[in-house]
Amino acid sequence: MKTIKEIQDEIIRLKKEKDICILAHSYQGQEILEIADFTGDSYALSVKAAGVENKTVIMCGVRFMAETVKILSPGKTVILANPEAGCVMADQMDKDLIEQVKPSYEGYTIVAYINTTAALKTICDVCVTSSSAVQIVKNITNDKILFIPDCNLGAYVAEQVPEKHIELLRGGCPVHAGVTVRDVKAARAAHPDAKLLVHPECVPAVVKMADYVGSTAGIMEYAKNSDEKEFIIGTEVSITEHLQFECPDKRFYNLSTGLVCQNMKITTLMDVYNSVNGIGGEVIDLDDETIRGAKKCIDEMIRLNHE
Ligand code: 13P
Ligand code: SF4
Repeated sequence: MKTIKEIQDEIIRLKKEKDICILAHSYQGQEILEIADFTGDSYALSVKAAGVENKTVIMCGVRFMAETVKILSPGKTVILANPEAGCVMADQMDKDLIEQVKPSYEGYTIVAYINTTAALKTICDVCVTSSSAVQIVKNITNDKILFIPDCNLGAYVAEQVPEKHIELLRGGCPVHAGVTVRDVKAARAAHPDAKLLVHPECVPAVVKMADYVGSTAGIMEYAKNSDEKEFIIGTEVSITEHLQFECPDKRFYNLSTGLVCQNMKITTLMDVYNSVNGIGGEVIDLDDETIRGAKKCIDEMIRLNHE
């Protein structure tokens, strides 16, 4: 049986030989992050996807992330390392549903969290990610905004950009939305000196109690650069593990043990190994019309993400 190190070495050798770029979301396991060419939050991965030079890209993350790579680099072969890796939130609202509600929001700019399907993006105006949402909404000229699907991220944006009228629909991430005020009180009582860092997909009552609110990459940067020594991490538990690995002189605690995204956990090193060997993963196939329509929405995100 091969060791993890031997499998990693084989993946690294094959990706060079076959001109493959491996992108991994920060929620992936350490053994996958180590063989990736680039790791980061959804925004950073999207920007990276637009400039990849390799013929093939393997996405270690969830389906909407692989679709985003395909939309931004349609000429490339894009492979989702584990075809079962979906995002519960992205599957909550489809194109048909939003087409039905659209007439009730005439004159509104439709802002779609990037955690949406490629098909849904084709009928929205601009995408956002958790790290870019506030800045982008500030830069939209229209004052009337329909924010989909995450009502928790939407509520956070509405609080940060009070000059806009923001309507929300009732979607969200069950992993983050499951964290309660009681979890925060228990974690604070157990670790009174720790700073609380949370993802804006948590419910507003939890977000209000945080010392810092940010994307997965934002939380990691904050903790790494801070002079503080203890942190309670309010996002997927992998971030707590990665931070503990990278900053052994600091202490990191999970805000809740329920913060586990099964979809992000489903991708294994063997999935990546099989994908580089051409015997695993799923090649993402989107028709030209979907790519064209969804690209407008993602291009707007990149265009509007400035001070
Ligand atoms: P980020 O934009 O912070 O990477 O978040 C993506 C995600 O799915 C969080 O649950
Ligand atoms: Fe989707 Fe939530 Fe998992 Fe992020 S943590 S990929 S939003 S289900």
